[in-house]
Amino acid sequence: MIDWSKVGFGYIKTNTMVCTHFKDGKWGPVESRTDDNITISGLSASLHYGLHCFEGLKAFKCKDGKIRIFRPEENAKRMIRSAEYLGIAAPTEEMFVEMVKQVVAENADFIPPHETGASLYIRPTLIGVGPQLNLIPSVESIFMVLVLPVGAYADGIDNPIKTVISRQYDRAAQRGSGAFKVGGNYAAAMVPDVKAKKVGYQGVLYLDPKEQKYIDEFSSSNFFAIKDNTYITPESTTILPSITNKSLEQVAKDLGYKVERRRIPLEELSTFEEVGECGTAVVITPVGQIDDKPTIEGAEVTASYNFGTNCGPVSRKLYNHLIGIQRGEIEDKYNWCTVL
Ligand SMILES: Cc1ncc(COP(=O)(O)O)c(C=O)c1O
Repeated sequence: MIDWSKVGFGYIKTNTMVCTHFKDGKWGPVESRTDDNITISGLSASLHYGLHCFEGLKAFKCKDGKIRIFRPEENAKRMIRSAEYLGIAAPTEEMFVEMVKQVVAENADFIPPHETGASLYIRPTLIGVGPQLNLIPSVESIFMVLVLPVGAYADGIDNPIKTVISRQYDRAAQRGSGAFKVGGNYAAAMVPDVKAKKVGYQGVLYLDPKEQKYIDEFSSSNFFAIKDNTYITPESTTILPSITNKSLEQVAKDLGYKVERRRIPLEELSTFEEVGECGTAVVITPVGQIDDKPTIEGAEVTASYNFGTNCGPVSRKLYNHLIGIQRGEIEDKYNWCTVL
């Protein structure tokens, strides 16, 4: 019996994972496995050349007893784009969604009960496999979908975080992989995140890699700000197109706010009423402080932007509305949820 109050982001063995192997130009049958260990060649291009991409989405057990999966088609489309970028075979949108539904159904008893506010995190992963030394895209790949119950971050919305701008590191190059969900982007953001945590920050904010003049995004979430009844989020070719952000833009419009997706110069930070991170993991995390420093770990702070110690009213409204849709408590007028 799982003690749901203790579930965080740690590993819990679930019933199954599902996977399929692309070989000789076609996908094989979908297998459901109770063992989440896989065997691949030590010469696989995913291990040597980073031919790997993944996705993250969630399923919720709702008050009406139904299970809802939030916008899996959007994750499928994004994985197809990531695979095209890497030059490896992608699952079709239909395969992706069917495998997500299958693994959620097979692990329904690992979806936390509604009242816990927790959810089932779904991790579709695509890796280039097969022995090769050549620096060419893999001709073989494995597409697998794994799940893990994850805790609620119910108090996350009440606790604005302190973040720091990265002046030493970029997470992606100007014409690089930033807009794709490939493993390498996360490798590049790992050390800056560790350094930031060591000196008391809970997030790292990246600027555009060309000029360091415009706001890009955080290491694993998009940036948004609120000013004059307007939801503002960066237009940039080096950020991941967040599905949460896209959904929040729609929710903001529906709630009567203006929405602007445009370049955001760093100087504009001082004019914002509210700032937040958005992404699948927590939907919205309010940002209370952003420090600009020559180095993440150094003592010198060249500027500090403050947005208060409480979540702003607009961020909270958007958060409540979006989680209401995800949990089947607010009308899902765009059919975002796949109901099992
Ligand atoms: C770099 C990055 N940006 C943004 C996001 C948020 O995207 P989504 O809302 O699709 O989870 C994520 C997390 O998935 C991310 O890793």
